[in-house]
Amino acid sequence: MCTCTHGEGDPLITLGCDYNPEQWPAEVWAEDVALMREAGITLAAINVFGWSETEPRPGEYDFKNLDAIVELLHENGIRVNLGTGTASPPPWLATRHPELLPMAADGTRRYPGGRQGWCPSSPVFRSYALRLVEQVAQRYGAHPAIALWHVSNELGCHNALCYCDESASAFRRWLRARYQTIDNLNTSWGTSFWSQRYGDWDEILPPRAALSLRNPAQMLDFRRFSSDELLGWYHAEAAVLRGHSTVPVTTNFMVTAHIRDLDYWRWAPAMDVIANDHYLDHRLGDPAAELSFAADLTRGLAGGKPWILMEQSTGAVSWQPHNLAKQPGEMLRNTLTHVARGADTICFFQWRASTQGSEKFHSALLPHAGADTEQWREVLELSGALGRLAEVAGSTVEADAAVLFSWESWWAAEQEGRPSTAVDYLAQVHAAYGGLRELGVTADVVSPDGDLDRYRFVVVPCLYLVSDEQAARIETFVERGGTVLVTFFSGIADQDDRIRLGGYPGAFRELLGVSGEEFFPLLPATTVTLDDGGTATLWTERLRTTTAQAKASYVDGPLPGVPAITRNRFGAGTAWYVATNLDKTALQRVLGEAAGVTTGHPGGLEVVRRHKSGKSYLFLLNHGAHEIEYPATGTDLISGERADGCVRVLPGGVRVLDEEQGERP
Ligand code: GAL
Repeated sequence: MCTCTHGEGDPLITLGCDYNPEQWPAEVWAEDVALMREAGITLAAINVFGWSETEPRPGEYDFKNLDAIVELLHENGIRVNLGTGTASPPPWLATRHPELLPMAADGTRRYPGGRQGWCPSSPVFRSYALRLVEQVAQRYGAHPAIALWHVSNELGCHNALCYCDESASAFRRWLRARYQTIDNLNTSWGTSFWSQRYGDWDEILPPRAALSLRNPAQMLDFRRFSSDELLGWYHAEAAVLRGHSTVPVTTNFMVTAHIRDLDYWRWAPAMDVIANDHYLDHRLGDPAAELSFAADLTRGLAGGKPWILMEQSTGAVSWQPHNLAKQPGEMLRNTLTHVARGADTICFFQWRASTQGSEKFHSALLPHAGADTEQWREVLELSGALGRLAEVAGSTVEADAAVLFSWESWWAAEQEGRPSTAVDYLAQVHAAYGGLRELGVTADVVSPDGDLDRYRFVVVPCLYLVSDEQAARIETFVERGGTVLVTFFSGIADQDDRIRLGGYPGAFRELLGVSGEEFFPLLPATTVTLDDGGTATLWTERLRTTTAQAKASYVDGPLPGVPAITRNRFGAGTAWYVATNLDKTALQRVLGEAAGVTTGHPGGLEVVRRHKSGKSYLFLLNHGAHEIEYPATGTDLISGERADGCVRVLPGGVRVLDEEQGERP
């Protein structure tokens, strides 16, 4: 277990927050800390956006306030998650060096005035920022209050893709390292098409806005480069910190529905501990299911080890079109989804609601109305509940099912010039994951490069781009007795985004025992019917079985009689193919049959277990509007109530049963 956020000793679930005291006069700080203590906050992220305070003029440092805050927190037993402060440069830097401002694909610069206004490849930005990190690391590196280093903030949240000339040079360097020769690059990018053959590295640009569709392989490589470039920047900051400190280093990931620019599978090994920021997204059909998915994916990035929820909100955010507040109990329930799925540290953005700035309508632990509020009382309740869950810390989730997830494939699947712009990779992943969740199957979310041996059942949703090695690993998994369920638009292209020939889905044709010859995407609002009673939208394909058995075929639509769901025996295992976008019930049915799960549980109930040294903790989270009864025996760690054979979970309510004394299913 990582003890970085709470020190050695007995386990506990740490409660923390982002603390931005620079927004407040010093008189407020003492009250802040007193209330933090009341709420059981033991970790505060500070100096995340501190640059213009700590270096008000070039090379002139002022750490007076930061020193005072570090001391104040330390005296009050609150450990510090110390930001390097480089996330947002002060206005003087862009005034001096406008060339470090990021450039959009159309060649226009983005002005300062927001945040993260810097080009990830800018040597000027890098030298000023590293100079600041050096100061911070030197000053606080040995301070006993520092529990964790917080590099920058949500790297790439706004500036992941920069198209300026510095970025172009860095892109060329990255391409040279990847391809060695210009001929290799031409082959990988398929530059014979549309007369794009390069004679020299200097001719290559980032994929800036063009008159027509751009080269997809170039765009894919630009995304790979951009993710690597920011990871390189993370390493540069971390190296400075490590020169002065032995405290763990991390940065906050954005495993969330609307950010997709960084390949966190490549980032995760560089983190001393995995930290994620998550906000409920009310633009989605089922925000709570996405929350579960993000938490499971974060656990995947953490290699199954406990992880840190670095940011979430107590109530509304301020960056969605409709910023919904949380219902009573929702904050606790959402928090317990993270805990159930492996988080041992729970932090909030931010401590005290701002009165000014772009996020003045964003909720906080301490709202504008102060401490005599429902919000604050819920914070105290949450803190009490987490205190009672202390022994859960360090336990792990053991899943025998997995969903494969790939940022690379996401990028490639959603390029320009594809069969249907309505095919949304993440929506397909969410659909498959959501089906399993509703069946009560806890799944790990793993990389296509990950180890599949420990699983019984693996879902491969819409994995458009797949390397030979990844495809072989999936085949071996099935050959040895595993069951796989692949959904449409998978296995189509190789790592260069080159279509695999001989029939779709090229990489999985043998495994699935099918061969497809033409995609027949559907117009929006078109529904087709299957002969097993299910319906489907979005996608069909002219498919024939080779060794597979058709489980369901289309009754109508463009391809009546053509198989839509197939099953194939492969080695000692089974490979299912779902060649269309099934409705929710139909998808759940086929997932259940493929996974061998016959019993679901009442809708709206989230069921997850964490295990530790022979003990198991059963999390039952009722997202629905009706009371639910669930068969279980044990003691509820939060309420202290004992359940013998059946536990009742109130609408919106939560239970965390220590099943030790009961029957373990
Ligand atoms: C995060 C960010 C915070 C704050 C928060 C608001 O993306 O790290 O600084 O902006 O969102 O929801």
